[in-house]
Amino acid sequence: MKRILIIGATSSIAEHCARIWAARGEALHLVARNEQHVQVIASDLKVRGASKVTTYVTDLNAMDKHEELLDVADNALEGIDIVLIAHGTLSNQKSCELSVHETLAEIQTNALSTISLLTLIANRFEAKKSGTICVISSVAGDRGRASNYVYGSAKAMVTAFTSGLRQRLYKSNVSVVTIKPGFVDTPMTSDFKKGFLWARPKAVASKIIRAIESNKTEVYVPKFWRSLMLIIRLIPDKIFARIKL
Ligand SMILES: NC(=O)c1ccc[n+]([C@@H]2O[C@H](COP(=O)([O-])OP(=O)(O)OC[C@H]3O[C@@H](n4cnc5c(N)ncnc54)[C@H](OP(=O)(O)O)[C@@H]3O)[C@@H](O)[C@H]2O)c1
Repeated sequence: MKRILIIGATSSIAEHCARIWAARGEALHLVARNEQHVQVIASDLKVRGASKVTTYVTDLNAMDKHEELLDVADNALEGIDIVLIAHGTLSNQKSCELSVHETLAEIQTNALSTISLLTLIANRFEAKKSGTICVISSVAGDRGRASNYVYGSAKAMVTAFTSGLRQRLYKSNVSVVTIKPGFVDTPMTSDFKKGFLWARPKAVASKIIRAIESNKTEVYVPKFWRSLMLIIRLIPDKIFARIKL
């Protein structure tokens, strides 16, 4: 039985991961800010077969609560094998452009809160010389684009941070898995018109679980985003500035 901490557990992608783990009888500790929603998910996961489901409610921007959050999870699960960090907000690029406050708030939610958690989790896992940390970043972090560079730059920070962490923790037998989804049909993107590039959260979740099990490092989901983002990164800056992506 694996002991799994899910941070941002009301995320649609995280919930689909939790369903796969519940069906396997794993023990789950769910952290989210919406108490009612996380309780509904917890009850469902018990019915689906999880050996244990506990919850903790907090706004993840309350970074002074992160140490406590991890202590509670550690006690509830009697040790942690896997952590999935899934919370995030899709920034409104236009209103961020008009507001330093909103821009920094988005960087706080999508980068700094994750980096705070990663720092604390890394030290705990490094000390016990085991564990897997999986973080959902985004293809948006691969290159800043006019339409979403606030969100994208926060995700770029998470991607670079996890890359460094992976190298640091290698010798301590701790895996760090960075997931880079493309477009996924979840509440976060409910206002978007969907097309052929879009993936379902259930499919993304099964790729996340496979990436964790096979000790992957950085995974594009679906796979074709690796080639697509390589092409986008190779476009020279002078041409990139002129095109609309
Ligand atoms: N959907 C996509 O196209 C896509 C693409 C690439 C990467 N991603 C990333 O995938 C991850 C999961 O997103 P999703 O697609 O599953 O969207 P989602 O269902 O909207 O989930 C986002 C979750 O983040 C939580 N959250 C946001 N701010 C929080 C805070 N301050 N404290 C606690 N929880 C907070 C939300 O909680 P509430 O429900 O309480 O608001 C929600 O449960 C995110 O990191 C996202 O950036 C998504």
